[in-house]
Amino acid sequence: DKGVYPYYMLKEVDEQAIVARTLSQHYFDDDNQIQNIDPAIIEAIQSADRLYIVAAGTSYHAGLVGKRYFEQWTGKPTEVHISSEFAYDQPLLSDKPFFIFLSQSGETADSREVLDNVIKQGFGSLTIANVMNSTLTREADFALPLLAGPEIAVASTKAYTAQIIVEAILAHAAGNSTLDLKHELAKVAVEMQVIIDQKEVFKTIAESALRDRRSAFYIGRGLDAAVAVEAALKLKEISYVQTEGFAAGELKHGTISLIEEGTPVFALLTQTKTAGLVRGEIAQVTARGANAVIISSKALAKAGDAYVLPEVNELLMPLLTVIPAQLIAYYATLDRGLDVDRPRNLAKSVTVQ
Ligand code: M6R
Repeated sequence: DKGVYPYYMLKEVDEQAIVARTLSQHYFDDDNQIQNIDPAIIEAIQSADRLYIVAAGTSYHAGLVGKRYFEQWTGKPTEVHISSEFAYDQPLLSDKPFFIFLSQSGETADSREVLDNVIKQGFGSLTIANVMNSTLTREADFALPLLAGPEIAVASTKAYTAQIIVEAILAHAAGNSTLDLKHELAKVAVEMQVIIDQKEVFKTIAESALRDRRSAFYIGRGLDAAVAVEAALKLKEISYVQTEGFAAGELKHGTISLIEEGTPVFALLTQTKTAGLVRGEIAQVTARGANAVIISSKALAKAGDAYVLPEVNELLMPLLTVIPAQLIAYYATLDRGLDVDRPRNLAKSVTVQ
């Protein structure tokens, strides 16, 4: 039930802080210890020599973020693959691979095809999904819930942030991070709500930057590049504004030729190491007439940035950065008079290959 909301998507965006708290309560006990994760899952990750995250669409994008957590905290090389590609073009695998499937629905046919192949080859697998008792959760060796509640809008929002949180918790549990993750996630939930409560800002941004525009760009480096591809998918999927999301350093290798007077370029700037470089790339597109809309974190903000994100641990910033992108997509779509929840040509879960 949508309740007071005009669209499910807005309701689901709004629920993200609650989902973050729910996940924290579920996976951490009162003494900050991990609970509700089968020790055999931790054991499987620790004894693997490489992790393979396999997913489609937004879930794949959540994998791009999770890769950083697994590599940083468990020290395991982690590859992220698109299921429809992996299914028919399996890369050379390591000696002891472990597979992690990410899915909101648990029914995505492309991912099911890969899981079938993985099982046939005798490799271990875990599915992290929102719909438990789905094909992917039943057929993998292990399953962990996203606990996001029903996600109805075709555009995935709360499942994405939930996937990132569960990946972080799992990598933390299997690794040696010294982060007080429970405490950090509590901060994330608070700051998510701060952004959500300022949603009118994103309505203004969407209307001024995207009205009558046919194309747009999202750029960033590192974790911001991972969020940029998700941000672009969100915007194009529902508003039909052709949007590319990519690593900011790639602009000069081709895409910058597309910049015209007024082209909206959303720049995500939350990673200290590369902030200077991204500022340079913003200057490059601005010099060619782009309308740069900068979404930065507090520590890296400069006068003139369109929105300054509250600050949490830099590795967890994607959980905040994506929310403005979700809301910009929502309001741009609303502004065009389109059905936010049901974009043309798309189904909520893609059960054909
Ligand atoms: O149910 P899944 O997470 O496996 O679905 C994967 C994609 O089909 C899904 O994320 C899709 O890209 C969304 N519509 C994006 O908003």
